[in-house]
Amino acid sequence: MKMNKTLLTLSLAAATLPSLSSAGEVEVLHWWTSGGEAKSVQELKAMLEEQGHSWKDFAVAGGGGESAMTVLKTRAVSGNPPSAAQIKGHDIQEWGGLGFLTNLDDVAQSGGWDASVPSMVTDVMKFNGEYVAVPVNVHRVNWLWANPEVLKKAGVEVPKTLDDFFAAAEKIKAAGFIPLAHGGQPWQDATVFEAIALDVLGSDDYRKAFVDLDMDTLSGDKMVEVFTKFQKVHDYIDANSPGRDWNVATSMVINGEAAMQIMGDWAKGEFTAAGKVPGKDYICAPAPGTDGQFTHNVDSFAFFEIKDETNVAAQKALAATILDKKFQEVFNLNKGSIPVRTDMDMSAFDQCALDSMASFKATAKTGDLVPSMAHGMSTTSYAQGAIYDVVTNFFNDPKADPKEAAQKLAKAVKAAI
Ligand code: BGC
Repeated sequence: MKMNKTLLTLSLAAATLPSLSSAGEVEVLHWWTSGGEAKSVQELKAMLEEQGHSWKDFAVAGGGGESAMTVLKTRAVSGNPPSAAQIKGHDIQEWGGLGFLTNLDDVAQSGGWDASVPSMVTDVMKFNGEYVAVPVNVHRVNWLWANPEVLKKAGVEVPKTLDDFFAAAEKIKAAGFIPLAHGGQPWQDATVFEAIALDVLGSDDYRKAFVDLDMDTLSGDKMVEVFTKFQKVHDYIDANSPGRDWNVATSMVINGEAAMQIMGDWAKGEFTAAGKVPGKDYICAPAPGTDGQFTHNVDSFAFFEIKDETNVAAQKALAATILDKKFQEVFNLNKGSIPVRTDMDMSAFDQCALDSMASFKATAKTGDLVPSMAHGMSTTSYAQGAIYDVVTNFFNDPKADPKEAAQKLAKAVKAAI
C-alpha cells in the first residue's frame, strides 16, 4: 500500500511516542533563568512534552550554579531528589560516589552516544564506566564580547593581547564609557581570573595549576603576574559591579553603557535573545591573549535513582532527547554554545559558534584545550571553592599583594585537598 505523507507522519509519530499510560513526570533542577538560558531550557521542556511526559521545573536562580547546588544537596539528603539535575564535571563523580545516580547505559546504547560524542566528554559522564549523566553542549569560556559602536567612539580596536586590552580600556574610560562590564560575584571574578591565567601561564602551566594543583605553579612567579594583571582589571570596572548578575553585565554591553565583557558564550544567548546580530551589533573574540586556546565548560544533566516506573520512563525519554540532533541544534542556537555531538550539520549556526567549533577541534590536537576551573571542569568543588575565595578576596582588596595572593592560593588549595 502506498501511504500518503500525512499518514506516514502519523504512523511514525505513533511508533515513536510512548502510549499515554506510560506518560510520566520529570522534575529537573537547573539554574538557567536569564533570558537566553530560559529560552534554551524551554526547548527541552517542549520536546519532552511532545512525547507525552510532563515537566516540573525546578529552577534555582544564580549564575554559575552555586545556589542550585546548595538546594540540590538539601533535597537529595532528605531522600527526595529530582529526576535530573544540572550537574557538571567533577561533581558528577562526587554524586556518583554517594550512590545517588542511576544507570543510563540502555539509553546511551540505543542512542549511539559513544560514537557521536567525544570521549573526553563521555568519560566525564560515566561513573565506574556507566553513564549516569548526559552532556548538553560545549561552552567556550575564554571569550571577549564587545560593542563595536562604543569601541569606535573611543577610537580603539578589539584588543588582541592583554597589553592592548589595558591600553584600549584606558581610552574607553577617557571617552566616558565603562571599559569592562563585570559582576562582582566569586564565579565571575574566577571567570576573568582564569582567562588571564590562560594567557599568562600558557596552556601547560594552566593545566599544572588548575588540574594537577601543582603547588609550585600555584605559588610561582607567573601566578604572581596573573594576580598583578587581574588586579589592574579592577581599574576598568564600575563602582556598581559588586553583586551584579552576569546577564545584567551583558546587557550593559548590549545597550552601549559598557564596551566589553569577558564571559563564556552563554553571554551570546543574551545577545541572541535581544535580537542582536554577531559581527554587526556585537563582536565575539577570544579573550585577550588566548587566541588558539580554548577553555571548555560542558553542561550536563545527571540522573537520579527514582522509584516510580512511569517517571523512570519519562526520565529516560529526557536523557534520549538531550542528545537528539534536533534538540542539540535548537538548544545550542539559543544557549550560545556549540553542540556536543560532532556529527551535526552546523549550517544554522553563526560565525561565533563556527569559530568556537573550529577552535574546539583544533585545540584538541595542539594541547590548548583546557578545562575551566571557574566552571567546575578542572578540579573538585573543594579545590575550586578554595581558589574562588582567594581570587575574590584579592580582587576586592585594592591593597592586596599579588605575591602574597599566589602563596595564599597554593596554601588554600593544599588545605582543601
Ligand atoms: C553554566 C552555563 C550558564 C552559566 C551562567 C555556567 O556555569 O555552565 O550553562 O549559562 O553558568 O549561569
